[in-house]
Amino acid sequence: MKVRLFKPSVGTDELESIQDSFNSAWLGLGPKVIEFERQWSEYIGSKESVGVNSCTAALHLALSAYRFPEGKKVLVPALTFAATAMAALYNRLIPVFVDIDPVTLGISLEDLERKVDKDCVAVMPVHFGGHPVPMDDLVSWAKAHGLKVIEDCAHSAGGLYKGKALGTWGDIGCFSFEEKKCMTTGDGGMISSDDPELLKPLRPARWIGINKDTWERYEDYQLGNPDANSWYYEISDIGYKYNMNDLMASIGLVQLKKLDGMNRRREDILRQYIAGIQDLDYIKPAFPYHLQDSSYWAYMVRVQDRERFITHMKENGVATGVHYLPLPMQPLFMKYASETPVASAVWRELVTLPLFPDLTQEEIEYVNACVHSYMD
Ligand SMILES: Cc1ncc(COP(=O)(O)O)c(C=O)c1O
Repeated sequence: MKVRLFKPSVGTDELESIQDSFNSAWLGLGPKVIEFERQWSEYIGSKESVGVNSCTAALHLALSAYRFPEGKKVLVPALTFAATAMAALYNRLIPVFVDIDPVTLGISLEDLERKVDKDCVAVMPVHFGGHPVPMDDLVSWAKAHGLKVIEDCAHSAGGLYKGKALGTWGDIGCFSFEEKKCMTTGDGGMISSDDPELLKPLRPARWIGINKDTWERYEDYQLGNPDANSWYYEISDIGYKYNMNDLMASIGLVQLKKLDGMNRRREDILRQYIAGIQDLDYIKPAFPYHLQDSSYWAYMVRVQDRERFITHMKENGVATGVHYLPLPMQPLFMKYASETPVASAVWRELVTLPLFPDLTQEEIEYVNACVHSYMD
């Protein structure tokens, strides 16, 4: 048997939605993006959202919204995907690597206290693997230090912490709809906030700086607005080609309806996985999975002699992954490295095992059996 690590759960509903865009022959930034932004805001309980083509773009633009002076510092966890810290570099800011909590693997509040200084302007917590950072504590800590909070929710679309959606605790929430994530648009991302004024400049910023996107100009023209000057637009600031398009939004509108169901299915699978390893001493869940209102993107474990375990799983046809080599160990980020001993130790034990809603019962049991046969 072969078991994939991740697999998007897409089918005829998504295809029909794309067909709808084909029929109208409007594939770019258009009405479906606007509708998806509206439905996403409503879903997470946020006032405003801007659709972009990735979470990497979302994090870049979210941080740019504050126009922090060059050389200021941004606190990011040492254990995350490069995009979190890359957002600081894109904005000519300095990433300050913060160690992780040994239990939850999220950014450590103790180390934040050690690393913060007067040049820090923002903190970017990541709900690593989908496990929530304690946002009540983090937000009050950040407020006390005058820091903006940009939540990296790439791993955690649809999850709640203490009954409130992840991505709505901080000043801005950024989401990923890349193909492996909790829901997908192929590639895609979303920026959400309760401060519409803050997000306003991000609309032209995702569209090469143009103050009116093509759909807006078309709408004006169609509505017969006598003042509409359909060719005229202004560019007043730097912008990027970061927009979401209607094909992505077609998929996103359908996936959004399925998101809660997919997250509940992930919880079911994780329950079976965790029950399956509870008696083993050489493998443990990576963090204290809380399987309610959750959005665990990945099934992560801590295992002894990781490379041998990965080889064992591979020989049995089970795909595995490692998330991640801590960023301070990457050549680009080495010069920003500081003491992050927990991240440097813990990542050596981490392995990601298959998790996606369409896993079959047979596959789940097979993965568990392969984990058991590791020490046989
Ligand atoms: C923590 C984290 N942040 C940001 C991103 C970037 O997401 P995207 O692929 O949508 O750009 C990822 C992607 O895996 C991620 O894991």
